[in-house]
Amino acid sequence: MRSFKLSYAGKGDVDLLAEHRKRMWLDIHPEYEKEVRATEKGTRRWIRDQMSKGTLVGMVVRIAGGEVVGSGCIWLREEQPRPTNMRLVVPYLMSMYTVKRFRRQGVASLIVKGALKWCREKNYDRIVLHASKEGRSVYEGFGFEPSNEMRFRFQQRLSSSQPETSGNHTRSVS
Ligand SMILES: CC(C)(COP(=O)(O)OP(=O)(O)OC[C@H]1O[C@@H](n2cnc3c(N)ncnc32)[C@H](O)[C@@H]1OP(=O)(O)O)[C@@H](O)C(=O)NCCC(=O)NCCS
Repeated sequence: MRSFKLSYAGKGDVDLLAEHRKRMWLDIHPEYEKEVRATEKGTRRWIRDQMSKGTLVGMVVRIAGGEVVGSGCIWLREEQPRPTNMRLVVPYLMSMYTVKRFRRQGVASLIVKGALKWCREKNYDRIVLHASKEGRSVYEGFGFEPSNEMRFRFQQRLSSSQPETSGNHTRSVS
């Protein structure tokens, strides 16, 4: 079995994390390719800014020799005051991506394990995420469970070139 090594991302990994986030979106929602590419630069900038503020912790998995096979990030998301948690921050696991040929070998699981360890060490009371169809069972295996979050979806026009009245061409984004 191959051995994988998890490490924290540094400033030099911004492009890698942005690239993996892009590929994650393209894998989950190939129909949003145009939008994913149009928002690529902004996403990279956001990742860089969050990392320099200390609110984004990237985790990168490599094989011996240094090839990167997957990554994920903990985003320290601002939260409203709650009686059970006045830290006003909740860790959010995001951008989980494994390079295709290394899938189903435990790469994402290693990242989840690392994220749980990081959160425990920092005394967070929970970590949250939104799961893709492919990712769900990985998280469930660690004990993640659905929460009571609800949402109301406004239809959002994804392409500004579409005429205002073309209701059939609207799609929602998450
Ligand atoms: C979802 C995703 C990150 C999972 O990555 P991964 O590295 O393949 O995940 P793991 O290998 O840890 O686990 C995947 C499965 O392989 C199994 N597995 C892990 N190691 C294994 C091994 N050595 N041999 C056989 N199976 C193994 C796991 O038990 C898990 O099984 P399950 O799906 O039945 O629960 C990856 O498929 C991906 O990048 N998908 C596209 C983007 C995406 O959906 N990202 C998640 C957003 S929430």
